[in-house]
Amino acid sequence: MTIPSVFTKVDSLQRVLHARNDNKKIALVPTMGALHHGHMELVRRAFELADLVVVSIFINPKQFNKEEDLEKYPKMLEKDLELLRKEGDVIVFNPEVSEIYPKNYEAMKLDLGPIATTMEGEFRPGHFDGVVMVVNRLFEIVLPDYALFGLKDFQQLTVINKLVKDKNISVEIIGIETVRETSGLASSSRNYRLSADQMEDAAVIYKALQTAKNEAEKSSIAELKLLVENMIGSSPLELEYFEIVDPVSLQSIDNWVENTQACIACICGGVRLIDNIQLT
Ligand code: PAF
Repeated sequence: MTIPSVFTKVDSLQRVLHARNDNKKIALVPTMGALHHGHMELVRRAFELADLVVVSIFINPKQFNKEEDLEKYPKMLEKDLELLRKEGDVIVFNPEVSEIYPKNYEAMKLDLGPIATTMEGEFRPGHFDGVVMVVNRLFEIVLPDYALFGLKDFQQLTVINKLVKDKNISVEIIGIETVRETSGLASSSRNYRLSADQMEDAAVIYKALQTAKNEAEKSSIAELKLLVENMIGSSPLELEYFEIVDPVSLQSIDNWVENTQACIACICGGVRLIDNIQLT
């Protein structure tokens, strides 16, 4: 068998997992491909935790609220497999849409409440319903002991933790620190769409977050928001939102709380980039 082993069908994936299982622990790293350093960190951590590591590569149409965003999402399966090859005997699951959502598939419904209507939820309506749908489906297929997600998608991690808690799913969710390029820009599949100049421009996002962290508690939340808005405003980027939120409810706050979180979304050369930092 070639490494990594690539499965496109649920049945064949489950057969191999079942055959190899024999009380072995399974870790799942859900991805949409266009893998980068951040994903590789998730894979390495998955190997530390489990005997079998499944990396799903599936661009989930249900979580895109704009057709153009879905069409432009970078696709590079051969390169992805080459990167994974270096990490060991990864089991890749690369299904078609019809395999994940077969005809008559009844998607699980979950009321995500206010954590899913702010920030990403406000600017990408329905996004988290799509994320929850696919992640739940992947959990049903793989039955992992662990599932690993990057903390760059802080709100997504909160939503997935709610899914697991509310649906009583037996999986341990592990959030992994954001991996950054040397400029500080958070590693992201969307960075593949940036030119070299845009990559440099986009470094202002992390600079602004770090400035916010340095000024936190010395300033009011309103002053800090203005500071970041001005930093991004005087760069070539367009600010979609910068929110200072309670780390659990994800609602905007006016006064500092323990582990106050700042989340940001910007557009750089037509590419949407998100990041976050813990301020206190
Ligand atoms: O974070 C992502 O890449 C996606 O939202 C995920 C978790 C793989 C679901 O499609």
